[in-house]
Amino acid sequence: MLWNPRVARVAPFRVMSLLEVAQAREAAGHDVIHLEVGEPDFATPDPVVAAGQAALAAGHTRYTPAAGLPALREAIAGHYAEHFGVTVDPTRILITPGASGALLLASQLLVGAGDRVLMADPNYPCNRHFMALAGAEVDAVPVDDTSAWQLDAERVANHWADATRLAMLATPSNPTGHMLDAGQLNAVAETVAARGGHLLVDEIYQGLCYDLDPLSVASISPDAFVVNSFSKYFGMTGWRLGWLLAPEAAVEPLTRLAQNVFLAASTPAQHAALAAFTPECRDILEQRRSELGRRRDALLAGLATLQLAPSLPPQGAFYLWLDISRYSRDSEAFCRALLEEENVAITPGTDFAVTGGEHHVRIAFTTGIARLEEAVARLERFLARR
Ligand SMILES: Cc1ncc(COP(=O)(O)O)c(C=O)c1O
Repeated sequence: MLWNPRVARVAPFRVMSLLEVAQAREAAGHDVIHLEVGEPDFATPDPVVAAGQAALAAGHTRYTPAAGLPALREAIAGHYAEHFGVTVDPTRILITPGASGALLLASQLLVGAGDRVLMADPNYPCNRHFMALAGAEVDAVPVDDTSAWQLDAERVANHWADATRLAMLATPSNPTGHMLDAGQLNAVAETVAARGGHLLVDEIYQGLCYDLDPLSVASISPDAFVVNSFSKYFGMTGWRLGWLLAPEAAVEPLTRLAQNVFLAASTPAQHAALAAFTPECRDILEQRRSELGRRRDALLAGLATLQLAPSLPPQGAFYLWLDISRYSRDSEAFCRALLEEENVAITPGTDFAVTGGEHHVRIAFTTGIARLEEAVARLERFLARR
């Protein structure tokens, strides 16, 4: 078959086939501990569910404007003012079907055939694939402890080529959980601006941080494109709702793109999300953040007893990027064996990293502390046989 050759550059998400095996084992009666998928075990907060149900009952089931419900765009602008001290014109905010929808719009607007994009390696693979679908080449720049697992200004400067148009960051990062601080973000923004390029920052894990205060590149540069979502901090993965904050000049072409590629984001979800910014909901979300912080600490403590804790603990998101080179240089075989022998599902690093993925795995601390401790005990048993 003659498919679009760009699709050939989109690799499968290996974690999904692992999830299938894990679910089959569960159906066969095994007690599987799920640490593979990027989704905590919390339900959507009650106030959001109630607002969604009320929206459906009130008949809010028709299209909204392509850029989203004005009230929601204003609520998000209010969120930036309240938590990041930055005034953002609501017209710069486009509501999208998840961060994924925002990434689709941004990638289509910012890059095309022959352009190059800088990204940290490891990274969230779909971000890489959005760029490939737009026709661009991704230069995945290896990062490690020496730059807190992030693309820093020095690396951006060193890898910038004539055809580079865009630097893309994710903070906190998936899969490492590491963050850039305000000074580091500012340095990257200045480096990119000096080269006439664009900066795109995926802030989907914003709010889920345990050591540093959350921050946004929006309070550093009005020229940055910012991707965010109701999926992670707000606990609304299945509602499929996110947003893109764009520089003023980009709003018109982005709206045209939105009008054509998805018309509008889900209407009931947009009404539901209005309740996500209430103090009542904020309390629930902050309690969850504290719980995720305790889970991180419990997992780190457990891994330390196996001499496996990472040298730099993750500061945010709900992932830990683990070097398994003492035991394996084939992370896919390692994950498969751990699932088959001990019923613990984690993700091979090859999903995220162009280099080093074969000796790293990602563990998601998306389940309760007792289960995490049980997972560490099973991992210990598994490693003792290696
Ligand atoms: C870094 C990152 N960006 C974007 C997404 C897409 O999220 P959604 O479309 O659910 O908002 C994810 C999902 O896991 C992610 O980890």
